[in-house]
Amino acid sequence: MSETPSDLEPGTPLIRLEEVHKTYRIGKTEVRAVRGVTMEVRLGEVLCIQGASGAGKSTLLHVAGSLDTPTKGRVFYAGEDVYAMSEYRRTGLRCRKLGFVFQFYHLLPELTVLENVVLPSLSTWAGLHRYRATRERAESLLRTVGLGDRLLHRPMELSGGEQQRAALARALINDPDVVLADEPTGNLDSRTGEVVLDLLFRLVQERRRTLVLVTHNREVAERCDRNLVLQDGRLA
Ligand SMILES: Nc1ncnc2c1ncn2[C@@H]1O[C@H](COP(=O)(O)OP(=O)(O)O)[C@@H](O)[C@H]1O
Ligand SMILES: [Mg+2]
Repeated sequence: MSETPSDLEPGTPLIRLEEVHKTYRIGKTEVRAVRGVTMEVRLGEVLCIQGASGAGKSTLLHVAGSLDTPTKGRVFYAGEDVYAMSEYRRTGLRCRKLGFVFQFYHLLPELTVLENVVLPSLSTWAGLHRYRATRERAESLLRTVGLGDRLLHRPMELSGGEQQRAALARALINDPDVVLADEPTGNLDSRTGEVVLDLLFRLVQERRRTLVLVTHNREVAERCDRNLVLQDGRLA
């Protein structure tokens, strides 16, 4: 994987989607979740994708984040066609360059909080060969998100807000270029959601990283640099 984006100017397109379509087929039923979206995510920006439930936001984020193949169209990461890469390379991109935060946290219940945060690093050389340093980094991230005294707890022993803060630490463990967050406060009460969001913004901005934030909350959208609105699978 090339060493982007340190050699790119802020504002250059980091992720670019060209005429992306995603259609789900279940039996004879077709759901056209994304219908011809062209957009870019620029290095260093906080980009918001807004839209009603069912508008295709999650689908779009997954396609942009190399998690799900588009039915048609192309996705570029730092100029490279993501779905033309080998599976191996694409996995490398996903694990090392991108960090994900989901609405329902998706922490592994049988692992401790610390293990959950360390886990993505095991796909990197440093994670495997510098385990102690990685573990210290995970602990430091968990302290930053206020979970320094919960390292050995299981996710079930944490509140929703705490689980999401652990998920933020996990998203950042490999120091990704981009964090993709899908309604990260959607399952939290408004006060807790605000704490998580403040933390997400601070963590991303301190590191001068790029953030793509999916939300249907207008107040959240107002805090972003740029806003796109998705309606029935198309950009409004
Ligand atoms: N795995 C799937 N299989 C079939 N249909 C899906 C799948 N995921 C999403 N959809 C459908 O695609 C449309 C867009 O869904 P989604 O991307 O989750 O929207 P949003 O995140 O904006 O709520 C919806 O009609 C949804 O039911
Ligand atoms: Mg969604």
